Amino acid sequence: MCGIVGYTGRQDAAPLLLEGLRKLEYRGYDSAGIAVENDGRLRMVKASGHIDRLEEKTHGGADLPGCCGIGHTRWATHGAPTDVNAHPHMSNDGKFAIVHNGIIENYSALREELRGKGFVFQSETDTEVIVHLLDMYYQGDLKEAVMRTAARLEGSYALGVVCADVPGTLCAIKMASPLILGVGIGENYFASDVTALVSHTKNVIYLEDGEFAELTPESITVYDVAGRPVSHSISRIVWDVEAAEKGGYDHFMLKEIMEQPRAMKAAIEPRIRSGRIVLDDFDDAFKVCFDDVHRIVITACGSAYHAGCVGRTMIEALCRTPVEVDVASELRYRDPIIDDHTLLIAVSQSGETADTIAAIREGKNRGAKVLAIVNVVGSTIAKLSDYVLYTWAGPEIAVATTKGYTTQIAVLSLLAVWMADRRGLLTPERYSELTGGILDLPERTQRAIDLNPQVAYLAERYRDNTSLFFIGRNLDYAVCLEASLKLKEISYIHSEAYAADELKHGTIALIDEGRLVVALACCEALFDKTMSNIKEVKARGAKVLAVTHEGGRRVFAEADDVLFVPVTDPLLAAIPEIVPLQLFAYYVARANGCDIDKPRNLAKSVTVE
Ligand code: G6P
Repeated sequence: MCGIVGYTGRQDAAPLLLEGLRKLEYRGYDSAGIAVENDGRLRMVKASGHIDRLEEKTHGGADLPGCCGIGHTRWATHGAPTDVNAHPHMSNDGKFAIVHNGIIENYSALREELRGKGFVFQSETDTEVIVHLLDMYYQGDLKEAVMRTAARLEGSYALGVVCADVPGTLCAIKMASPLILGVGIGENYFASDVTALVSHTKNVIYLEDGEFAELTPESITVYDVAGRPVSHSISRIVWDVEAAEKGGYDHFMLKEIMEQPRAMKAAIEPRIRSGRIVLDDFDDAFKVCFDDVHRIVITACGSAYHAGCVGRTMIEALCRTPVEVDVASELRYRDPIIDDHTLLIAVSQSGETADTIAAIREGKNRGAKVLAIVNVVGSTIAKLSDYVLYTWAGPEIAVATTKGYTTQIAVLSLLAVWMADRRGLLTPERYSELTGGILDLPERTQRAIDLNPQVAYLAERYRDNTSLFFIGRNLDYAVCLEASLKLKEISYIHSEAYAADELKHGTIALIDEGRLVVALACCEALFDKTMSNIKEVKARGAKVLAVTHEGGRRVFAEADDVLFVPVTDPLLAAIPEIVPLQLFAYYVARANGCDIDKPRNLAKSVTVE
């Protein structure tokens, strides 16, 4: 939640900060603000609403001259998204301005203490205590004030500070929230994510928790928690600037749907060599660890949890090892049965989801080894886990995940086959059938994307539905969960995913004349059973849009409309099956005039519990 950015150099900071905030807007977009230092004075402008409003209010940044500044885009937690609650927050004397991503858990006690000392609070935010603490501790040494302030904070923070007394200098410090430094020539940056930096520099430093950085145009100095300088190697961002641009598409979501075949290739091809799955990311230690695993627990949030549901079916079917899948926020609080024979698989696009991070910590405390399936390189989850498999989907900007989710499933399918093979459970024929099927997934995904015009037509036809159901069995049901979420989050249309047969245990009461039911029927073994469920809802007046594979033509007898997705191995069907339903959600939302890339109330990276 929330994105922060900072710049110090020779160019005007404000336009660069606004540009950076646009790239970070996916992290939160209910209000924004910037503060710029000029000749030892700070000026600040904040605006509720999207970055456009801030841009208008500052005339593209022209109202705030100066070459050193900080910016913030917010997803409100403490206090409504108003101008006053927007960041930056300034000290009472106007000497300090700060931007913050995270949550200060002990802010109430700190606020009382600071009020008692005469500090005046303007906002309802947890963040404002930080700027008053800085003010309190500052005695001419900014580094010391920042470090003493950080020592008082409980919770998570990525913090950017600018101080009128130290022109041209930025401070940045982090604890459990992402913060990356951009290394330029005669200019330096910080940001929550590399997407805000990549058009200016590809050289970055990933700060560790507790580290503090001082940035001037010419230098970056990093200190550890005790204030000792530490050296950091510079990492190179591997993708191009275009990867984080819309590239001619109207929305990032559509672009990212279309990118799925390419993303899938990047996730799969380097990991299958001469017909064998090679998980380079692992070392022999993982093999040893896996040989001692009796149980697997998959944990994640949102769509990543849905990918985990698909993963469970694949792993259990192939590997015959019990797999439990649980949303991270539930797992961590229910005294989970996890021990040193458990493998905890954490799935996350961003690698920064607070509940998933907490579930990993819980699992580690109980002795589990943790394998992360993550997209963002260098993210907290990647660093925290014992083993990492990157999904290599490239930057995903749209709040509603698409390529992030499908590449997670692609990696889980590789893992499921690798594990089954390691346990000696696959014949050579089945092994090559499955690896061949996985290698074909990019092409199958492309063929599913080719349904685009047909899906756009159907979305137009069904756009007025106010409530609908997705039904399916087994893997189809796991895909229903994601299809339903996609539609809800971007079109605001109520929908529910139901295990097809479970519908009749109560919810079928909601099926009435004209109600849309989207029936997924790609599980060959259960096709006839799903057909019976389709008949049940048809008999009660429902309209049925069926999604099946090319072999399921007999669905025509019952469904009003049919989308045929390419045939794959039944265990791999989830990927081609979700694609038309991602497109369906997209076109319904578009037809209804919704803000597709920035749906209301959401944020892409949920870094608070
Ligand atoms: C948010 C996003 C979802 C995402 C979930 C988990 O709720 O809006 O699209 O699936 O977080 O995110 P992660 O980065 O851990 O996959």
